Amino acid sequence: MSGILCVESVSHCYAGQTVLREVSFSVGRGEIFGLLGPSGAGKTTLVKILTGQLSQTGGTATLWGEDTRRLSAQTRREIGAMMDDLGLYDRFTAEENLSFYAALTRAQRSRGEELLCRCGLWQARKTPAARLSKGMRNRLALARALLGGPRLLFLDEPTAGLDPAAARGIWRLLEEEREKGMTILLTTHNMVEAQRLCDRVALLHEGRIVALGAPEALCRQHNRQNGLLITLKDGQRQWLENGPAAAPELCRWLERDQLAAIHSTEPTLEEVFLNLTGRRLEDEQCGAAL
Ligand SMILES: Nc1ncnc2c1ncn2[C@@H]1O[C@H](COP(=O)(O)OP(=O)(O)OP(=O)(O)O)[C@@H](O)[C@H]1O
Ligand SMILES: [Mg+2]
Repeated sequence: MSGILCVESVSHCYAGQTVLREVSFSVGRGEIFGLLGPSGAGKTTLVKILTGQLSQTGGTATLWGEDTRRLSAQTRREIGAMMDDLGLYDRFTAEENLSFYAALTRAQRSRGEELLCRCGLWQARKTPAARLSKGMRNRLALARALLGGPRLLFLDEPTAGLDPAAARGIWRLLEEEREKGMTILLTTHNMVEAQRLCDRVALLHEGRIVALGAPEALCRQHNRQNGLLITLKDGQRQWLENGPAAAPELCRWLERDQLAAIHSTEPTLEEVFLNLTGRRLEDEQCGAAL
């Protein structure tokens, strides 16, 4: 397997409970790779293994060919991580959170100022982290993860609990970083996020990868209905099987200028996951939050 990040048959048990089972994939330079799965699927466990915070009980994971159980100081400087608990110092201001971390990691202080601006936190730089909104706290944690100028970024649910506008702010920042060649691995329950951002996703269920590929390709592969949903200008809705037999009717509607909309019936990622596992992705998150 080639790639910046290679995961080969990684398994993990916590006190006899197996939470990852023979997980394998690789991530190439400049790719945004999404790990999707319901609560308890093993996403955070895998991110901890890949960032060297936890040693797996089986298999191998490497970053630029280095085993994640023995990452060199140089390789650690090349990675940034935003974990699900954010890990901010609540009494420190936004600015102090970054300068404290910059001092620890020998990152340039001026980079902190640039990131406060880019992450929309300049006005709030003197506000203690505890008083920032959820979206601002997430952006501050992202700014901190970007402080050292990493080439590989790990994000564990970067937009969990954010409203769509706040989430879009984070997506834009990540898209900018990808443009510059950064490689990103993120975990999410959010299908809209996965479909908008990720070049490829792995669907994780009970510690196993049940599907892996580009979001659109996965949806096309699982298009069992293979149909076309037609809406005519008079409001009528029609269903046709997607194939040559549909052509005469489609042509007739086009010639008579009756066609308002046409959609193919491939499932969403959420439906693909449901088909494969019998379980929903997003409902699980609500259940876990209750
Ligand atoms: N330190 C730990 N000790 C024992 N079990 C753990 C530990 N951390 C996680 N687990 C268990 O491992 C399983 C996977 O947890 P993990 O946090 O990796 O899931 P996740 O996919 O990140 O879930 P979520 O979407 O809720 O964040 C869960 O059953 C969890 O209870
Ligand atoms: Mg998690």
